[in-house]
Parts: sequence; C-alpha cells; structure tokens
Amino acid sequence: MRAVQISQLDGPAAARLVDLDEPAGDGAVVVDVHAAGVAFPDVLQSRGLYQHKPELPFVPGGEAAGVVRSAPPGAHVRAGDRVAALTMLNGAMAQVIALPAAQVFKLPDTVSFEAGAGLLFNDLTVLFALTTRGGLTQGQTVLVHGAAGGIGTSTLRLAGPLGASRVIAVVSTPAKAEVARAAGATDTVLADGFRDAVAELTGGKGVDLVLDPVGGDRVTDSLRSLAPGGKLLVVGFTGGEIPTVKVNRLLLNNIDVVGVGWGAWVMSHPGELERQWSVLEQLLASGTVTAPQPQVFALEQAADALAALESRTAAGKVVLRMRD
Ligand SMILES: NC(=O)c1ccc[n+]([C@@H]2O[C@H](COP(=O)([O-])OP(=O)(O)OC[C@H]3O[C@@H](n4cnc5c(N)ncnc54)[C@H](OP(=O)(O)O)[C@@H]3O)[C@@H](O)[C@H]2O)c1
Repeated sequence: MRAVQISQLDGPAAARLVDLDEPAGDGAVVVDVHAAGVAFPDVLQSRGLYQHKPELPFVPGGEAAGVVRSAPPGAHVRAGDRVAALTMLNGAMAQVIALPAAQVFKLPDTVSFEAGAGLLFNDLTVLFALTTRGGLTQGQTVLVHGAAGGIGTSTLRLAGPLGASRVIAVVSTPAKAEVARAAGATDTVLADGFRDAVAELTGGKGVDLVLDPVGGDRVTDSLRSLAPGGKLLVVGFTGGEIPTVKVNRLLLNNIDVVGVGWGAWVMSHPGELERQWSVLEQLLASGTVTAPQPQVFALEQAADALAALESRTAAGKVVLRMRD
C-alpha cells in the first residue's frame, strides 16, 4: 500500500510517499482508506514539536474515512460499511489502516469520504468545547479565532445548531473571511483590531464564549471581548506562543478561562467518544449540521497539504485523497 511517511523532523517537506506492508489487522477493524484528514498537530509532529513524539519513521495523520474491508466478530461495523475512523495521534495517512472497533464510526450516506475524513477530530473537539466545557446556551454569542481553519470552520458549522444566535469569525485576510462566511459565520472581523470590531458589533456588550485555537498575543483582547460571565475556551496555540493570563482580569468581569483537552477527556471517560459521536451523527444525518467542505489535496501533494497549514494559506479543513 502507499502511505505518507516522515523519517526526519524537517517539517512538511520531509513528508514522502512510500510503499509499506498492509497491516495484519488481527482483532481489529481493517479500513480501505479513501481520504485522510490533515491537521495542525500533524505539522507540529513533522518538526518534533507536538507533545506526542512518534518514533521515526512514522505515518502521520489522526483520522481517515473509507470502507471497512474486514471486522472482527461482534463489531458494530462490517465489511462494506462506509466509515470515519480515528487513529488519534498518527498512522491515518495510509491506504489501509487497522484499528480498534471503538474508534470506527459509520458515516451517514450524505457525508462524502473527503468530508468524513475531516470530521471527527475537529467536530468532536468543538462539540466538547462548546457544550461540556463551555456550557453554551440558546441565544448566546460565540467568537472563534482562526475561523477559516479546521477547528474554526467546525465551530462555524456547529455553534448555530447547538444554540448560538451569533457566531463571529476572526480571520487574518479578507479571502479567509469568505471561507468563514461559507462555513456559517454570521459576522467576520479581521484579527488585526478585532477587539474594537467586536465591541462595535455587540454594542459594547461583548461575547459569551471565545473559542481560541490560536493563543499568542490575542488572549488579552479576547478576555476584554467577553461579556460578564463569559468564558475563554483554550483549544490550541497555532500562533506559537503560549500566553499568560493576569488573573485580576477574571474577577473584574466575572469571566472564566477554561481548558479544552478533548483527547485527554475521551481517553479518561469510557463511553464518551460513542456518546459524542451519537450527538454529531444525528446532527449530520438530519441535515442540522452541514458536512465540512474541505480543501482536497492529492496523495502526491501530502507535503504541500501540511505546508499549507504551516504557512497559514489553507482555506478551510484540509484533507488528502488517498486513492482514485
Ligand atoms: N485542545 C484540543 O483538544 C484540540 C483538538 C484539536 C486541535 N487542537 C488544536 O487546535 C489548533 C488548530 O488546529 P487546526 O487543525 O484547526 O489548525 P488549522 O486548520 O491550521 O487552523 C489554524 C488557524 O490558526 C490561525 N493562525 C494564527 N497564527 C498562525 C500561525 N502562526 N501559523 C498557523 N496558523 C495560524 C490561522 O488563521 P488566520 O490566518 O485566519 O489567523 C489558521 O487558519 C492546533 O493548535 C491544534 O493542536 C486542539
């Protein structure tokens, strides 16, 4: 089978297409992969900068979508089922993967392989962030940073159906504002000067939730953009710097800073992954939440796909087409 492999920690350019043996799959679900998701942690792993550091050489990728080739007796999926699958940390950018049944989910017929490959990691993180950690209620206003990225477009697709009446997208360029609008933003503002723009949009009231996958120097203005009782959901640090927070800001306006560690949560809460998927599956199958509209790269362009995230030029969720 063909697979993407990283054998040196030189960043996206080190991603090479190689031939590898197919996995045996004893006791596991074996999936013929049609598409694989590309996410920021894959970029960090290509430089050895992520908390999880796989041994070299490794196949990157945390999620994929395809067709079940074989499944062990008693599994909830069987040969021929269309599925999305979570390898979680790496291993998904291969034409055949084998993984535990609990990490494989039947795709609604309305969701393509390419959309399905960009679905689980971000949508389940955002669902967890907005509901379990953020306590989103009907009619609230949500602001999301990096809104044209993977986590960002998931937030734009999910926040409205989960109850938000307004979802403000923060992006770095007008072109990304278009991507954000297409994904469901009710308002878009540029990152540069977003605090004033948000104050104007909300009549000085501020927003109820900020979902932040970027971090860096935006955090103070995010806290200043919260309405009384609001929450800053800390999801990631694509901006590079891990910010510090002066805690006096929290008491001045009765606001919270809330950590969102989806992987750690699902691994320590048995049954939670299935529960989250059943919520998302219903939202997708009923058409309440739209499927992602990813930017698709060919398998031969794996290095370019990773580089698009690192160079901040990606438009929406990025996926790799793994076979024709
Ligand atoms: N906590 C969790 O459980 C969890 C789960 C999944 C992912 N994450 C994290 O969430 C973050 C986002 O992941 P993603 O896959 O959505 O990434 P992505 O698709 O690359 O989107 C990230 C966005 O960040 C913005 N950005 C700002 N400064 C940047 C910089 N210096 N380099 C690159 N992008 C920059 C970009 O938007 P603009 O250009 O518009 O600013 C970009 O669209 C990552 O840190 C990831 O590790 C966390």
